[in-house]
Amino acid sequence: MSERVLYTKPSITALEAEYAADAAANGWGSRCYDYIVRFEAMFSEHLDVSHAIATSSCTGAMHMGLAALSIGVGDEVILADTNWIATAAPIAHLGATPVFVDIDPASWCIGPQAAERAITARTRAIVATHIYGNLADMDALLDIGRRHGIAIIEDSAEAIGSVWHGGRRAGSMGRFGTFSFHGTKTITTGEGGMFVTEDRELFEKVLTLSNHGRARAQKKQFWPDEIGFKYKMSNIQAALGCAQMVRINELTARKREIFGRYRSLLADLAGVTLNPQPQGTVNGAWMPTAVLDRDLGISREDMVVAFAAANIDARVFFHPLSSLPMFSPRLDNIHAYDIPERAINLPSYHDMTDEQIGRVAGVIARLVEQAGRQAAE
Ligand SMILES: Cc1ncc(COP(=O)(O)O)c(C=O)c1O
Repeated sequence: MSERVLYTKPSITALEAEYAADAAANGWGSRCYDYIVRFEAMFSEHLDVSHAIATSSCTGAMHMGLAALSIGVGDEVILADTNWIATAAPIAHLGATPVFVDIDPASWCIGPQAAERAITARTRAIVATHIYGNLADMDALLDIGRRHGIAIIEDSAEAIGSVWHGGRRAGSMGRFGTFSFHGTKTITTGEGGMFVTEDRELFEKVLTLSNHGRARAQKKQFWPDEIGFKYKMSNIQAALGCAQMVRINELTARKREIFGRYRSLLADLAGVTLNPQPQGTVNGAWMPTAVLDRDLGISREDMVVAFAAANIDARVFFHPLSSLPMFSPRLDNIHAYDIPERAINLPSYHDMTDEQIGRVAGVIARLVEQAGRQAAE
C-alpha cells in the first residue's frame, strides 16, 4: 500500500524549533511577553492593520470581539449556513441568536443578498467567513453594513494569504477580523488565534476583556473592573508564530502552488469545479476543494470511499450548521444544503510531493471517467 496522504499538517523548520526553544529557556520574567508582542507586530504589519491581539484560538478571538460589541441576549447575528461551528458557538455563548443564511454558489461564502434579506431590528452584525480561503464579497457586505448600521465581521480563520480587490487582505476590512493558527492552518502555533481591528476603542475593549477585565489604565493591582475572559496566547506559542511569520510569504506561496497544481490536473475535467479566484483577487488556497456537478452522479460518499481505498485523507465539505441537532433546519438555504453532498476537500500541506498531488487528483479523475463511461453505456 502506498504511503498515506494526510489532509494537512504544518511546515515546521529549524527556525520554529530555535524560536520555541529560546522562549522555553529564556522567555520568562521580564521577557515573558517578548514573542507575543513581536508576533502581534509582525501580524498587524503583514495585514496592514493598526491593532492585533494574540489569543488562544480563533473561537476566543470571535467570542471577545462579539462581547466587545456588546452583542448579547435578544440580538441576532447573521452568518452563512456553511461554516464551522466555531463561528456560531460564540454567538450562542453570548445568548444571541445565530441566523443562518444561504451561500453564494460561486464563492461558497455568505450571499450578500441573502444576508441583507435576513436583517431585522434585532440584527447587530453579519459575519463573513472566507471559507477555505475563498473570499466573501466584501464590497457588497461592507455596503450593506454601512446602509444598515450593522458591523461586518470577518472570520478569516481559513484565509491568511487571501487578498480582496485593492490589495486589502482578508480580515483587515471589517469592524474586526479573526484568525486561527490551529495545527491544520497555513501558519500554526499549535492552537492559537488573532483578533485584528482598525478601531482603537474596540481594540482597548478586547484587550481589557482578554485580561480578565483588567484595563491597562487601571493602577490598582489585581483589580478587574468587569468580568472578562482568559483567551491569551502563551509566549512559547507566539515564538512558533514569529518563526512562521518570518516565512509567511513562502508558506502562503506554497499553498497556492499546490492549489495551482490541482487546478492544472483537474480544471479540464468536465463537471469539476475548484475554489474560485475572481479576477483581481488572490485565494490563499488553505483548502483546495472539488465540487462535482450533480449530473455526474458522484456523491460525497462515493468520494470518501474512493479516497479511503487510495489511502488518502479527504475531508467532507462543511455540513450546513442549521442541520445540526442544536439548531433548526433551514432547508431554504439551497446551496448550503446542496454543495456538501457533491464536494470534497483535497489534501494540501507544504511538504506534499507532486506525486502525492497526482495521486489525489487521479482519484477524482478516475471517478469522473467512470461516471462518463456509465452514462455512455
Ligand atoms: C471558519 C473557521 N472559523 C473558526 C475556526 C476556529 O478556529 P480555532 O480552532 O482556532 O478556534 C475555524 C477552525 O477550524 C474555522 O475553520
